[in-house]
Amino acid sequence: MHRVFCAQGYRHCRQQAGPPPHGDNKEETPLLRNLRSKIQAVGPITVAEYMKEVLTNPVSGYYMHGNVIGVHGDFITSPEVSQMFGEASILARRCEWQKMGAPRPLQLVELGPGHGSLAEDVLRVFVQLGASKGISLRLVEVSPALSKLQAARLCPGTSKKASTVASHYMAATTPHGTSVRWYRSVQDVPHLFSCFIAHEFFDALPVHKLQKTSAGWREVLIDIDPAGAPGKFRFVLSRAETPACKLFVKSGEQRAQLEVSPESGVVVQHLAKRLYQDGGLALVVDYGHDGTKCDTFRAFRRHQLHDPLEEPGTADLTADVDFSYLRSCAGDSLTLGPVPQASFLQRMGINTRLQVLLGSCLPEQRDRLLSGYHMMVDPDQMGERFQVFAMFPSVLRDHLTRFPVNGFHDP
Ligand SMILES: C[S@@+](CC[C@H](N)C(=O)[O-])C[C@H]1O[C@@H](n2cnc3c(N)ncnc32)[C@H](O)[C@@H]1O
Repeated sequence: MHRVFCAQGYRHCRQQAGPPPHGDNKEETPLLRNLRSKIQAVGPITVAEYMKEVLTNPVSGYYMHGNVIGVHGDFITSPEVSQMFGEASILARRCEWQKMGAPRPLQLVELGPGHGSLAEDVLRVFVQLGASKGISLRLVEVSPALSKLQAARLCPGTSKKASTVASHYMAATTPHGTSVRWYRSVQDVPHLFSCFIAHEFFDALPVHKLQKTSAGWREVLIDIDPAGAPGKFRFVLSRAETPACKLFVKSGEQRAQLEVSPESGVVVQHLAKRLYQDGGLALVVDYGHDGTKCDTFRAFRRHQLHDPLEEPGTADLTADVDFSYLRSCAGDSLTLGPVPQASFLQRMGINTRLQVLLGSCLPEQRDRLLSGYHMMVDPDQMGERFQVFAMFPSVLRDHLTRFPVNGFHDP
């Protein structure tokens, strides 16, 4: 199957797409009422609190809508653009797994699986290689609506059992017999040798925004705009240093603005602990920077930039991932990258894979295959903006110096 789309319109592209997933209703939503009441009760809230509430409020958060990714959603991602992304990323992990002696059982863990396309491509590679025995898939997903889409895609026609006793909340089996389970948090995933992957997951985690002023560092907060329509918000600065200013601004910081995601730090610390205790590796792919950018918090709606304070819950909120911060939270784990997605995919053989697919595709699939490839590797599209970062347990440092990790070094 060639699941390739012609879509322009990943989060930085502009494309008018199909009907909106959330409608154009400008009436006050329950989410907006909640946020307004909260600010009225406790005063201005941090951008991190706002982002968390808007994206993952269990009733009306943005990700609870379900159909947010793709041509008819608000943004598109590499796994949705082409199967070649999933194939390259699993080949990278499989090589390293084999270097570690191919331990089984092997747990594939995806954080924030969206529509399940990456997991589907990864499992297909294992099945095609005849290597799916002893493999399980564990999905960390906060959205019940998205988890239903994932289950329909990965486990069609099989019953999905809701779980009330175990740490997972749903379980099913793929047509090839792979066990799939859904978790709300990575902390709940069983302790086993694991390959973790997070594609466009960390950019959805809340950030604090901090700003240098003549009086010192202050936090950017969100308040009700007294001059605007009811329920209109605005950015304000904290009157004094907040805990985030004290905790996250390093001495000698040169930037005038910072974005920090402590929730991302907690996840990375947990991954580092898991890799140390149980063995495995983690691959993170996201748009981001290595501690250089300052002001990237933004919203996307129907493939267009959108005001993040306007109609909360109807647009995706995101901020570039600071890989230098993730590295600082990884303890003594071996970290690699970030390297640009284009060089990673090319080192993993995407050019050869493209030629193979072009040789076997139907004529009508050719243009889509090529446009998907260009979107993923073109430096002006996803090729440079998206970065790949990996973590390994520190015990493998010498081993991986002698046998360098695929995708991160030129052969
Ligand atoms: C931007 S989408 C990326 C989807 C997919 N990885 C892709 O690249 O197509 C973010 C995903 O992370 C999930 N998510 C966001 N915040 C989460 C959290 N705190 N815990 C677990 N999943 C979360 C969303 O529901 C969604 O599945």
